[in-house]
Amino acid sequence: MNKELEVSTHYQHGSLIKVIEEGFNYQGKAPSDISLDDMSVIDEFHIGGRQASEEFLDQLRLQERSLVLDVGCGLGGPARFVASQFGCLVSGIDLTHEYVDTGNVLSNWVGLDKKVILQQGSAMALPFPDGQFDAAYMMHVGMNIVDKKSLFVEVFKVLKPDGIFGIYDVMQIGSGEMQYPAPWAASKNTSSLASPQDYQTGLKEAGFNILATRERGDFAIEFFENMKRRMAETTADPALGLHVLMGGDAKTKVANVLTSIKAGSIAPVEIIAQR
Ligand SMILES: C[S@@+](CC[C@H](N)C(=O)[O-])C[C@H]1O[C@@H](n2cnc3c(N)ncnc32)[C@H](O)[C@@H]1O
Repeated sequence: MNKELEVSTHYQHGSLIKVIEEGFNYQGKAPSDISLDDMSVIDEFHIGGRQASEEFLDQLRLQERSLVLDVGCGLGGPARFVASQFGCLVSGIDLTHEYVDTGNVLSNWVGLDKKVILQQGSAMALPFPDGQFDAAYMMHVGMNIVDKKSLFVEVFKVLKPDGIFGIYDVMQIGSGEMQYPAPWAASKNTSSLASPQDYQTGLKEAGFNILATRERGDFAIEFFENMKRRMAETTADPALGLHVLMGGDAKTKVANVLTSIKAGSIAPVEIIAQR
């Protein structure tokens, strides 16, 4: 199996839209009653959920009518948030067919299907004209991509001059081997953790200027402690949460990440760059 297929197979759930519908049904909500905030427990698949998105996306100088690219958009939670918060038009691209299909249904439920278009494809071969986007971002995607510089070259090409590119990824910030499974990879084979310095070097080689870098380890620990507490309290299967996306070994995945963050080996890090 090639690497990209292995990655999308890792994320493939099989009956995601059905499980999400059942989860909302259990809460007494039909699709027409579901708000963007209701969805955020399941469609923001990164450390810190909606709060992390707000604090990260605020740095991208987004404006009404900005054309924005979400690289590795997943179910499109951040993309819908950008569209509703800033009024932008957002294109999302993701390897995993099921995430794209499910995400487009979720956009339809909240009336954002004209502003947020998700499509299947690879970040390593972006199907967009050069110089199209005012801004681009990627959240928790680089951990699945070995060749960061080629990825950054792709993003550079589709950005307008001065366009902003924001990254929020889990990075290797110290020594120590991470234990798997992790939420982004069942084994080391499909995990490509790199240091903030490696990201910065790749970005500079692709032509970007680095504007800011922020490590978010403490924020991540607090988020996971809360998540573990909720998972321990939740016994009802229909309950929605990121554990649904992580599958049967969600608890092990969360524990492995938390251990490595507490040991100072890894942390989510934001990097803001400009073309
Ligand atoms: C942890 S999820 C994050 C999803 C989304 N960014 C979010 O924050 O909710 C990682 C996503 O990256 C996607 N992905 C990984 N490698 C990719 C690639 N080479 N091209 C496009 N998407 C990729 C996966 O399919 C998955 O949906």
